[in-house]
Amino acid sequence: LKRRLPDLRLVDIDNAGDAIDIALIWKVPPGLERFGNLRAILSLGAGVDQLDLDTLPKNVPLARLKDDSLTACMIDYCRLAVLRYHRDFHLYERLSREGGPWRYELPKRTSERCVGILGLGELGGAVAGDLVSAGFQVAGWSRSRKEVAGVRSCIGPEGLEEIAAMSEILINLLPLTPQTENILNRQFFSKMRVGSYLINVGRGRHLAEDDLLWALDEGRLAGATLDVFRTEPLPAGHPFWGDRRILVTPHIAAAGNPETAADYVAENIRRALRGERLLNQVDVSRGY
Ligand code: NAP
Ligand code: GLV
Repeated sequence: LKRRLPDLRLVDIDNAGDAIDIALIWKVPPGLERFGNLRAILSLGAGVDQLDLDTLPKNVPLARLKDDSLTACMIDYCRLAVLRYHRDFHLYERLSREGGPWRYELPKRTSERCVGILGLGELGGAVAGDLVSAGFQVAGWSRSRKEVAGVRSCIGPEGLEEIAAMSEILINLLPLTPQTENILNRQFFSKMRVGSYLINVGRGRHLAEDDLLWALDEGRLAGATLDVFRTEPLPAGHPFWGDRRILVTPHIAAAGNPETAADYVAENIRRALRGERLLNQVDVSRGY
């Protein structure tokens, strides 16, 4: 940031007196309300659910992080997780470890496989585009209808049922809000195709954990790749550890890169100082 904005004075909140223009935060620090002249709050996360939006100063615009490297990282993770199921690597990994037997699964074409994505925003939209390029059938669920080439756009409660019924691999990339909490639950899994797969890269609180274990036991789901959890780090002894149907990754699907993120943060600082609308400004009333 100093290289991009040489005149910027960067201070730690404890040494900030009571006058700062812009706050860069991950969680809401105690005492943020004392800065009466704040012009913007910039979240250093792509999601803002870690912030208690009700406690933020009113009328100060809030933006979340957008970073091309983070988006690219999310595309890689989702492509890898989808292809692992698509090409049965999860099965071959297990058979390799268990000493066989030799088992031959005829590969399907990508065009024969439907991947559903909950959330078609910054990240879900980019992942959808990548999977379309790889040849998959892709459907996405969002609040507003989308026109993304090759993506079937689903909305509303019927759209959610539709996407559950058509997806063989389902990726969750929704933001966590009161409307989306526990959306991956028994009722939703009951609508999914028998033997389908879940990839959760949204937030842990999207998933009703006991309902996932139920769906796996019932065979409704054949496996799950989970990057986010209700409690992180995932506690020792949690039933997800050691369950061979579940792949646990440590909230690593996508991380911001300091170099590329700094370009974006610097641009938002300039906009805030000019009194312009921020990039990726959060609609606090919607919660994302
Ligand atoms: P975004 O641009 O705000 O997109 C959110 C999408 O979800 C939009 O398409 C939105 O619909 C849809 N949506 C929100 N509420 C909905 C509802 N109630 N019903 C239907 N659709 C709804 O967010 P993003 O940048 O793509 O990020 C998504 C989430 O990914 C973040 O909030 C964060 O939790 C997670 N994330 C995870 C990692 C990781 O490493 N695991 C990294 C970064 C981010 P509209 O387009 O119609 O508004
Ligand atoms: C990570 O999960 C983020 O929201 O940036």
